[in-house]
Amino acid sequence: MRFSCAPLALMMMMASPSSFLVRAFVPSSARRAAAGSGSMKWMSATAEEAPAATTEEEPFKYDFTMEDVVSLCKRRGIIFPSSEIYNGFAGFYDYGPMGSELKKNVKDAWWRHFVTQREDVVGLDSSIIHNPTTWKSSGHLDGFSDPMVDCKETKLRYRADQLFYAPVIVDGETVGYVCVQEGNDDDMVKAAKKQAKKLKKEKKIDGQAEAFAFKEVIEATEEEMAQIPSPGSGKPTLTMPRDFNLMFETKVGAMSDESSVAYLRPETAQGIFINFKNVLTTSRQKIPFGIAQIGKAFRNEITPRNFIFRSREFEQMEVEYFIPPGDDVWPPMHQEWMDSSKAFLLSVGLREELMGWDVHKGDSLAHYALACTDVTFKFPFGEQELMGIAARGNFDLTQHTEGSGKSLDYFDETLKEKYIPHCIEPSLGVDRLILALICSAYAEDEVGGEKRSLLKFDPKIAPIKVSVLPLVKNKEALVKVARDLYEKLQKRWNVSWDATGAIGRRYRRADEVGTPFCITVDFETIEDDNAVTIRDRDTTEQVRIPLDDVIPYLSKAIDGY
Ligand code: GAP
Repeated sequence: MRFSCAPLALMMMMASPSSFLVRAFVPSSARRAAAGSGSMKWMSATAEEAPAATTEEEPFKYDFTMEDVVSLCKRRGIIFPSSEIYNGFAGFYDYGPMGSELKKNVKDAWWRHFVTQREDVVGLDSSIIHNPTTWKSSGHLDGFSDPMVDCKETKLRYRADQLFYAPVIVDGETVGYVCVQEGNDDDMVKAAKKQAKKLKKEKKIDGQAEAFAFKEVIEATEEEMAQIPSPGSGKPTLTMPRDFNLMFETKVGAMSDESSVAYLRPETAQGIFINFKNVLTTSRQKIPFGIAQIGKAFRNEITPRNFIFRSREFEQMEVEYFIPPGDDVWPPMHQEWMDSSKAFLLSVGLREELMGWDVHKGDSLAHYALACTDVTFKFPFGEQELMGIAARGNFDLTQHTEGSGKSLDYFDETLKEKYIPHCIEPSLGVDRLILALICSAYAEDEVGGEKRSLLKFDPKIAPIKVSVLPLVKNKEALVKVARDLYEKLQKRWNVSWDATGAIGRRYRRADEVGTPFCITVDFETIEDDNAVTIRDRDTTEQVRIPLDDVIPYLSKAIDGY
């Protein structure tokens, strides 16, 4: 589901500062009616079992904040705000030297897991800009929108499903309203309390306010809206919600008129559907089979926020897995893709205790949506959707058949039947996964009485796999052995050379960017045993390994074979 965390009723006792908000993972409505895959996920699903999930009994508490994550990413060259020298550009980010390696490794791991290690999935790299009719057929042109409200005074724009209002009730009487933006529970509570206090002061009301019953602003009546304060102006200056299409428009060709309008793709999935026949006829695949694609997607998000969690330019890793129709066919396939998605996420280092599952239920199921389950993750700003795994029926291929006039059906030799294939769609955002992996990996501990901060990245995704450290830099023979080893390792992995400073400081530097192994070449190496010391980032344990065994040792530890 695209926007999963839509609290239906966030209850907070004004009198109890320790009480926390309970969030229900229930799609609030089918606002993005029939607007392609993004919107489909608003719709509810079957009740099939999600893999074993963590419960939401205790809210997870990080000992760091999102501000810490953002600043760490900048300091360590992982992610920078885009166009920073021009004061940035909201909703866009740049990946630095460490981040670009990390991102590449995450995408490679996904590709290996879902494409090269399977015989029934093949890859695709479609263009970002398609014939615009694609988006008419998919439903995005008419329905890929978010409800928004504008503040008439500040000109700020808000997503109506991320703005929550509640009446302030004192002695059984509504004395006004509070309105807060979606955030972590504590922040929302704090902001609401502050507003209620101000309101009571202005109106000279002494009594204790009752529990807040929050609702999305989208549910507000016109009468209520005339009293709900805008978070920007503090006055009732919000417009009623209206739909805002999220696709970025561009112009193609020399003419600049209506006929030249095209769109930056808001998802990679449609590139797969419109290539279904091409891939089918050239890859010798038979149903069931999948087409995978990794690539950029663009959405003109009304309120990009939480760093790379919701940005305007991001990358998706998606598979459309085509299957025969039938009520008994898709459930086991859907389950299989949920299991496989979980296995992948754990294999790249996602902390299992921070994962959850959100099976969509409800009465607003789009006619084509059979099921959708989100994998959620407990980010520092709350539990939110990480990825979605949907059973999409044959909606997309049917739409493109109608829109293009080209048949996208399939003759099944086993069933001796012609049909438009159905599909299962696991869809995962690269950037969102990277944020979850950074949150999973960030740690602080003490080594030898000294505090250190480290990124416990799985070796598979670590930007730098090994740091080679010559113990001294003024002993030619020692440096030569170290340099030879470094150049050998470079052929296989991204490795770093660090010959400056005390060895302890060099270890810290490597730990900080999540380098899983440090290799020290010392005097014994050249004078005695022709071996080196390999230090493990997480345990800080050191092993002595003959030079000839270094590559097999690292191969096993990094690549698993
Ligand atoms: N084809 C299905 C689809 O696009 P979606 O739920 O809208 O479904 C899938 O998006 C995934 O893409 C999300 O689970 C999330 O990981 C990622 N994603 C979506 N919008 C994003 C945004 N604005 N910024 C970062 N990642 C986003």
